[in-house]
Amino acid sequence: MLILAIETSCDETAAAIIDEEKLYCSIVYSQLDVHRKYGGVVPELASRAHLKAIIPTVEEALQTANFKKSDLEAIAVTNGPGLAGALLVGVNFAKAMALALNIPFIGINHLEGHIFASLLDHPSIKAPLVLLLVSGGHTLLILMKDWGNYQVIGQSIDDAVGESFDKVAKMLNLEYPGGPVIDRIAKSGNENFHKFPRSWLHKDSLDFSFSGIKTSILYYLDSKSEDFIKDKLADIAASFQAAVTDVLLRKTMLAAKINEVKTVVLTGGVARNSYLRQCFQEKAEVENIELYFPSPDFCTDNAAMIGKAGLFHLNQGQTSGFELDAVPNLKLIESV
Ligand code: KG4
Ligand code: ZN
Repeated sequence: MLILAIETSCDETAAAIIDEEKLYCSIVYSQLDVHRKYGGVVPELASRAHLKAIIPTVEEALQTANFKKSDLEAIAVTNGPGLAGALLVGVNFAKAMALALNIPFIGINHLEGHIFASLLDHPSIKAPLVLLLVSGGHTLLILMKDWGNYQVIGQSIDDAVGESFDKVAKMLNLEYPGGPVIDRIAKSGNENFHKFPRSWLHKDSLDFSFSGIKTSILYYLDSKSEDFIKDKLADIAASFQAAVTDVLLRKTMLAAKINEVKTVVLTGGVARNSYLRQCFQEKAEVENIELYFPSPDFCTDNAAMIGKAGLFHLNQGQTSGFELDAVPNLKLIESV
């Protein structure tokens, strides 16, 4: 089934064309230039930028993949979680296009998209597995007994890990989004320079907390001179990254152990982080765990992952009706 996938949940306008055999194209138009000067995503500006970009992005996808609109058999679109106005652009565009072409469409949970991103590069990953989803808005440990069957076994009780990267970068006067910058700067730093606190919560807890380390870095920076911070920027960034990675790695491996699972998947924007990937890889080898993560471009927001999740549901006969709404706080599963 040839489908067009659309993703507009935050600050990327993305379109992809995919079927069961192949990903034909994945176009991501990033709004970074619109938001960077504000140090974060401005929702109203995001909606307007999506409105401007949605038609050219979809047209570019069709052109790149060399298909006509009439070749499309269905549309998949992110309908939450995300920014209300941003989501609405994608959802309404998908509805209008499905109506005009007289083809089915389906609303996809953005988090499920991140989960399915792992299948884009590794189509044969087998459940059961433990999946760590680390993005700008979420930190979730998920036990997946099968594709489409999710049990949230751990989550952040405060900041998401990507959010903590972005906030710490701001404290260090680095540009938005902070994750990639910290990743780059930390490469030349010493991760043992300063031991920032690791929040384990209670013994064997699979939940996370990242607000403590943020506060601790704030106090640490307050106690140092501007010159010192400038001079030790790489070391501070590396030490922060090491603290966060330590917690993510240990809890993920504990989750795999408790649930007697030998496959671990890492996904979401923060899964792009080179240090995190390296630490997980080293540990997985020692623990004899099969480890997968998407290629970097499929970790951060894209429409290919929405297409992959869309195909999964459409092939089970599921579709959405025109009453489909944008749901900014959509959960992965209802009980969470
Ligand atoms: O998954 P994503 O693109 O959007 C959400 O669904 O939130 O994730 C964005 C987050 C941002 O917080 C960004 O700073 C972080 O992913 N990120 C990274 C890296 N690249 C993106 N964090 C750490 N290291 C990176 N290389
Ligand atoms: Zn995302």
